Amino acid sequence: MKPTILLDCDTGIDDALTLLYLASLVKEGHAELAAVGTVHGNVPADIGAFNTLRILELAGLPAVPVAIGAAAPMAGQARYAYGFHGADGLGDTNLPEPYGSPVDMSAPDQIIRLARSRPGELTLLAIGPLTNLAIALLLEPSLTGLVRQVIVMGGALEHPGNVTSHAEANVWHDPEAAELVFNAPWPLTLVPLDATHPTAMDGTWLDRLAAGDTTTAQLATRILAFYVNAYRPLLDARGVVIHDALAAMLAIDPSLAEYIERPVRVELHGEHTRGTTLWDGRRGADQGHRPPLKVAVRADVREYQERLLTSLL
Ligand code: RIB
Ligand code: CA
Repeated sequence: MKPTILLDCDTGIDDALTLLYLASLVKEGHAELAAVGTVHGNVPADIGAFNTLRILELAGLPAVPVAIGAAAPMAGQARYAYGFHGADGLGDTNLPEPYGSPVDMSAPDQIIRLARSRPGELTLLAIGPLTNLAIALLLEPSLTGLVRQVIVMGGALEHPGNVTSHAEANVWHDPEAAELVFNAPWPLTLVPLDATHPTAMDGTWLDRLAAGDTTTAQLATRILAFYVNAYRPLLDARGVVIHDALAAMLAIDPSLAEYIERPVRVELHGEHTRGTTLWDGRRGADQGHRPPLKVAVRADVREYQERLLTSLL
């Protein structure tokens, strides 16, 4: 059954690549993109919405509704990642303004209304901070029984963080929201840095993309250029990690990763560890009563890279 995706994102560069990937799936009939919501994270939520509209229009999906969501986390101030995504969130490509505009309902409201109107059908794919999902849960606790599944790009379990020594960006931006979302009784797959970081694309992959003569390949290459520079000190080579697209691909084909089922909690108070995602890996450990998450611990890197490249070419 082809998944009906409700995307929640903070359109930045890898979110944009994920939108291009999803657009190719929609055009080939492998998925439906019901709507998109945006959230503070890489960039402010409204900038993310206009970036999403730009990409969807350029990808030939102008009719997908885009709703603006939370401008700030549940506790504390919004913080952005312009150093990784550019001042415009799309690698300073200064793409033309979109024709369309965001819908006038909020992203959490859009999640609730769509879930109520299509009970049991939606795959909630979250590739930014989890503030919108947390707000939707607080407004509509029965949401956990109204969605088919939730897939989240976020966290780092047996892998260093990327914003601090231990915290991954999407969880770090709003740890309270992540704790609420991970502790809710719904079927949740987590795609952490443990699975995404080893899928880093190299220069050869980037060159194959740049050689593509489609508008999508050229747009993706333009947007990625800023990310390549930002990633160089991290990868010590020319390359990028397109984290969000792996979460999207696992929504279509879960067989591309191996999983461990275990509860995951979020550190909220540590001076050095706030935003860290933790699980208890001790043999025979009492896992308590928190619902287990399905955590992707390893992906088929080659298959992921080839399928993503093919979709962009
Ligand atoms: O840690 C990676 C995540 O943070 C990705 O979703 C990227 O877009 C940034 O939001
Ligand atoms: Ca993101």
